Amino acid sequence: MKKDFTTGIIQTGFSKKDAYNALQMPVYANAAFEFETAEQMADAFQGRSAEHTYSRITNPTVDYFEQRVRQITGGMSVTALNSGMAAITNVIIELAYAGANIVTSSHLFGNTWSLLNTTLAPFGLETRFCDLTNPEEVAANVDENTCAIFLEIVTNPHLEVADLKALSAVAKSKNVPLVADTTIIPFIDFHAKELGVDIEIVSSTKYISGGATSIGGLVIDYGTFNWKHSKKLADAAKQFGPMAFTAKMRKEIHRNLGAYMSPQTAQLQTLGLETVELRFRQASNSAKELAKRMKSLSGIKQVYHIGLEDHPFYAISKEQFGEYTGAMFTFALESQAACFEFLNKLKLIRRATNLFDNRTLIIHPASTIYGTFTQDQRDAMDIDDRLIRISIGLESVNDLFADIEQALV
Ligand SMILES: Cc1ncc(COP(=O)(O)O)c(C=O)c1O
Repeated sequence: MKKDFTTGIIQTGFSKKDAYNALQMPVYANAAFEFETAEQMADAFQGRSAEHTYSRITNPTVDYFEQRVRQITGGMSVTALNSGMAAITNVIIELAYAGANIVTSSHLFGNTWSLLNTTLAPFGLETRFCDLTNPEEVAANVDENTCAIFLEIVTNPHLEVADLKALSAVAKSKNVPLVADTTIIPFIDFHAKELGVDIEIVSSTKYISGGATSIGGLVIDYGTFNWKHSKKLADAAKQFGPMAFTAKMRKEIHRNLGAYMSPQTAQLQTLGLETVELRFRQASNSAKELAKRMKSLSGIKQVYHIGLEDHPFYAISKEQFGEYTGAMFTFALESQAACFEFLNKLKLIRRATNLFDNRTLIIHPASTIYGTFTQDQRDAMDIDDRLIRISIGLESVNDLFADIEQALV
């Protein structure tokens, strides 16, 4: 029987009955697992049985979190990492090789841009920046060494939304996987697989952690790409078929990089999943309502919200995400100085980074997330120093509006 989102999450069973009939998955906060015989130990280490061996590789509490996400997204496999950045790094290292290129946009979260440009470039990975809202331009950038087309489904903080079906058509025609960072819109009404995404990456720090309790990341493999077309995974494809990406991730990449999710985090995020639908819907509604009301304030030059009709990506956002377009939006003031003055006058809204806390958080991206980049790099990424990013929490819209109004005076 197909269940609705929250029912499906809450009713995901344990893979083994708990010894004490615990209703919540306990935290298995241990490093290693013991075996009765050397043969059983060898079977587990060589993948002939599914027993846990060591918590850098698998752990029952993390496994339960992964199974919940797998069931609700229809993913073929899910791997939980200890941050969104770890999830992105694992995926790119799995697909890339010296001489490969990755086709993406310069509109990326700052650390992702830096991962590609400064961390991985010296290993021989070329990053090709293009306009992902222009499928012809994307197609023209793909060649026989392209290991992936990578995008953020809503770019942070530019709020650019590419047409996933159009990108997927390009990716399919060129035999490259489409990899999407879907952090900004959780997998509730939005179904990455149906829109042609092969590998989905999520910073579960954001909506899923349940009010900013912990840092985490997810890699969801939909089993849709034929890995015989990947130069890096062609051999694995011969052995594992559609499981090639997952097999290499689980048997090599994630255990070698050593960034598996901790059981403590998995327990917090398992709990966060139980309320994510409620929190997401409320925060999305509040963000839209507040953005609408902020348009009437004369001190604000421009309000950008993908769920409002005047936004250039309104139509595609509605098509891909539905009515609920998330809790993040941006607005522009006169200057950086005006942004700082405004931020300093806020009494209720918190000056802090992060997204989708239960509290409303506000930040000036150019001087913080992008503050250590050079002006040239900021220009290349189109980071505007008059822009403020806000992430709406669960407070009342009236209280948030009153705080913004008083801080503009
Ligand atoms: C779109 C996007 N992707 C990835 C990340 C990185 O996630 P984490 O902080 O969990 O490493 C962030 C963080 O803000 C983000 O906004």
